[in-house]
Amino acid sequence: MNKSIEQIRTEALSEIEKADNIDQVNAVSTRFIGRKGIVTQYLRDVAKLPAQERPEAGKKANQTKKAIEMAVNSAISRFSSSPKEISDAIDVSLPGRFFPRGTIHPITRITRRICDIFERMGFDIGEGPEVETDYYNFEALNIPKNHPARDMQDTFYISENIVLRTHTSPIQIRFMESHTPPVRIIAPGKVYRCDSDLTHTPMFHQVEGLLVDENISFGDLKGILTLFVQQIFDDKTALRFRPSFFPFTEPSAEVDIACVICRGEGCKVCSGTGWLEVLGCGMVHPAVFENVGYDTAKYSGFAFGMGVERIAMLKYGINDLRMFFESDIRFLRQF
Ligand code: DAH
Repeated sequence: MNKSIEQIRTEALSEIEKADNIDQVNAVSTRFIGRKGIVTQYLRDVAKLPAQERPEAGKKANQTKKAIEMAVNSAISRFSSSPKEISDAIDVSLPGRFFPRGTIHPITRITRRICDIFERMGFDIGEGPEVETDYYNFEALNIPKNHPARDMQDTFYISENIVLRTHTSPIQIRFMESHTPPVRIIAPGKVYRCDSDLTHTPMFHQVEGLLVDENISFGDLKGILTLFVQQIFDDKTALRFRPSFFPFTEPSAEVDIACVICRGEGCKVCSGTGWLEVLGCGMVHPAVFENVGYDTAKYSGFAFGMGVERIAMLKYGINDLRMFFESDIRFLRQF
């Protein structure tokens, strides 16, 4: 210990001060506080001092080490942020890297548009689970076990009483169980059916609608759905209500629109009929109201359900359902 710790400290700090670049700072750092550095060695030597000198000497040496560390760090950050160094490291004249930007998927776009139209008519958004119980998916909707109506929907069973929901209609039940009328909801979501060919995929999207209040008639259903169809397609689109069957509505109907391709003349797309089916609907069956504890003497309502892919295909003139799920950027970019 020839030099005093104060001298070492002054020497180190002034060398850091004089350094011109990071390499020089690092060299000073190694020389003083590296593994074999002067201060490091000094600290080791403290142990050999007489016991009463050790605490004071140790304290001073540690303070010196800290001060040098801090000076080194601030010198390093000073050099790393110096404009000269940055312009050496980065060629600011290079063109930026291209990051491909995504677009909204056509299914998302149509789902939002559908919800938007109904939200403007005062409907709230409802939600429910995709893994559903047999009770909500079927029984509460007036589709008993072993009833032939179950054949309408090929079901993925998780276990005897748990299914992947085959439609968004169970959301109706869940919503009515937890709310009293008036009820006005629109419920979008994924649904699953054990079906796969040109026009069917095992997963697709539906939007469910439900309105319950006093004195709701089939006329209200026709009015709201006519408004909807004319907003999602165009206001000159002709539509018709064709009698149909659904276990959870009575009477039930399907809504057809005049074929978007031939405008009703008859072509390949509409199989020569001039009409295209776009949604199912009807007046809520009293059995459904009873299952959720609604007073059937006081309340009536209507429900409807539609496939989002189908609406998107008709709206954009897409003839292959699989295009939606292939993630082909050339296809998706067009929307
Ligand atoms: N859940 C039916 C299906 O998936 C669609 C449907 C039809 C929903 C009539 C309704 C309705 O709410 O009233 O085929």
